[in-house]
Amino acid sequence: MKRDTQLSRAGRAHHGTRSVNASVNRASTILAGTAHELYNRPDGTPLYGRFGTDSQNALRHALCEMQKADYCALAPSGLSAMTLTAIAEVKAGGHLLASDSLYGPTRMFLSDTVTRWGIDVEYYDPRIGAGIRDRLKQNTQLVFCESPGSLTFEVQDIPAITKAAAKVGARVMVDDTWSAGLNANMLDLGADYAAQSLTKYMGGHSDVIMGAVVARGDAARRLKDAEWRMGFNVSPDDAFLVLRGLRTLALRFEKSAATSLEIAQRLAEHSAVSAVIHPARPDHPDYAIYQRDFTAPAGVFAIEFPGWDIAQSERFLDALKIFGLGFSWGGYESLAVHCDPQLRRQFRSRRDGALIRLAIGLEDVEDLWADLEQAIKASA
Ligand SMILES: Cc1ncc(COP(=O)(O)O)c(C=O)c1O
Repeated sequence: MKRDTQLSRAGRAHHGTRSVNASVNRASTILAGTAHELYNRPDGTPLYGRFGTDSQNALRHALCEMQKADYCALAPSGLSAMTLTAIAEVKAGGHLLASDSLYGPTRMFLSDTVTRWGIDVEYYDPRIGAGIRDRLKQNTQLVFCESPGSLTFEVQDIPAITKAAAKVGARVMVDDTWSAGLNANMLDLGADYAAQSLTKYMGGHSDVIMGAVVARGDAARRLKDAEWRMGFNVSPDDAFLVLRGLRTLALRFEKSAATSLEIAQRLAEHSAVSAVIHPARPDHPDYAIYQRDFTAPAGVFAIEFPGWDIAQSERFLDALKIFGLGFSWGGYESLAVHCDPQLRRQFRSRRDGALIRLAIGLEDVEDLWADLEQAIKASA
């Protein structure tokens, strides 16, 4: 089945007299028919609200179908999807390798919380590729990747990393939010876990916060156990909203990505800009990996303005009229943020001036371009 057909059909029944969409079933208690059934529900029958009812289960199934996974854990936020994966894998005395490009709060969880459990957390350069073999130890339990990095957009060589990790028995997880699990399949590339913030493209309308992790085989079993023990729960209404977003995901992705590449090209030709950092451009240092591992781009990228200080970045952002100023991305509306106040890096990729991230929405390309042009002028 082709991708677009799958997006339309995934996670729902196609026969019988029923609504097209999963119902929103608000439930804590789900009554059993008999005392025997309290502990022996027929397979697939809901047991208790926290384990999911119609819309949550439909979303889980849809995400498993899309990524050919055996299990999908839903988490109350993208961040908690990342933390759940670490919880599923690490134990005291272990060693964890994490990409230096990780989303800030994920990094804080690893550095401030996971280390308190007696786990040694070390960061690696996201461009390390097969060189990760020199950083792996006999007690490495998890390699925590994010590809591309959400501010600096390094694309990691996941097949090389997973191959090296397998030699010491370490698992690999990838925060794969940029591709939404649609434009790349990190499990096919060898990762044990692929996790996404569904808040971004999947939800797509800036009105819901949720995350998901998918896995196959033994990792799927460990993931399910960890989810169960953590007591994670997402609301049936939010699951319904994410499912609704999933149905139009490809269309929105295509428009946002096409506009982003056009804007990126115009910015690359602009005299005020020193670099455009978009994984789907041939001038990106990891373009070959992007081309090998991804089927299509997303519409989030960064630009560098040489010589700009924070004050000039703020003047630029304040002059924008169509781009909103705010965190997150993947919604229908374009957003801009300056990244320097939140960048925490051990291995600093060479940069020159201010780093601004643009998340391109569904507006007309000419309106977005006119907005950026006038804001660059106004920032001078
Ligand atoms: C790459 C990445 N991962 C995870 C998250 C966290 O997602 P959420 O806001 O849904 O917790 C974000 C949020 O911006 C992100 O950019």
